[in-house]
Amino acid sequence: MTHETTPTEGADAEAFGALAASRHSVRSFRPDPVPQEVLDAILDDTRQAPSWSNTRPFMLALATGARAERLRAAYVAEFDRALPVVRKQRGALARLVLTGNAPDGDYRPWAPYPKDLLPHSQKVGKALYTHLGIARGDRAAREEAARASCRAFNAPVVGFVLIHKGLMPFAALDAGLMLQTLFLSAKAHGVDSCPLGVLATWRRPLDAEFDVPKNYHLVTGFALGYASDDPVNDFRAERRPVQLVAPKD
Ligand SMILES: Cc1cc2nc3c(=O)[nH]c(=O)nc-3n(C[C@H](O)[C@H](O)[C@H](O)COP(=O)(O)O)c2cc1C
Repeated sequence: MTHETTPTEGADAEAFGALAASRHSVRSFRPDPVPQEVLDAILDDTRQAPSWSNTRPFMLALATGARAERLRAAYVAEFDRALPVVRKQRGALARLVLTGNAPDGDYRPWAPYPKDLLPHSQKVGKALYTHLGIARGDRAAREEAARASCRAFNAPVVGFVLIHKGLMPFAALDAGLMLQTLFLSAKAHGVDSCPLGVLATWRRPLDAEFDVPKNYHLVTGFALGYASDDPVNDFRAERRPVQLVAPKD
């Protein structure tokens, strides 16, 4: 028997499609805080995500107010210390290591992309810089854009996703399912978001503010808040269809 769509299901599907399409990465936030009851409602929705054998092998750390400000300052300081390496200055990496300032993240967000995926990353980066009017050779403007991401784009909520290192790769998968549920619920509550992998480059700032259990690794940060009217938020990335593996004849 085939399933017949009921009128409510039809309306829900349309509403869901609109909600999913309306979520996008916001890169400039207003300072207005997200009310605690709104955050609580979003976190409550986040419980609805499935997880591997119901283990929920992830945790969130959420910073607001003075803690979020300290984190912004600490991440920008890490970024600025690492700049000579980003600029490929001779001996910069050795100096960073010798001074105890090497990136101490659990993973390496800066690691080279696989060859077949690199063009997609380059394409969105180029499109975003073009949207911002940043020329290819304008290193200062590019660095400032990267610095803004270390400030979590001034979002009132700076979040961190931690995954249980004993249940990989499923913990990372579950955290992704959880995070998208969180982002969609946030959007339904009028709250915008941006995932921030760049924050996983360093652990020190997070560890100075939160007691992260030893068996949890930092996989990404994220920002939550209300989009400002800065033109950066008019940028839309291309949304390619999910690739389907060709079935065998
Ligand atoms: C795990 C993860 C980490 C990300 N890290 C960053 C980041 O550090 N800085 C940034 O500006 N965008 C970051 N993004 C946003 C992506 O660039 C964005 O999702 C993609 O370009 C598609 O755009 P959309 O989210 O607006 O649909 C990240 C996305 C994901 C899923």
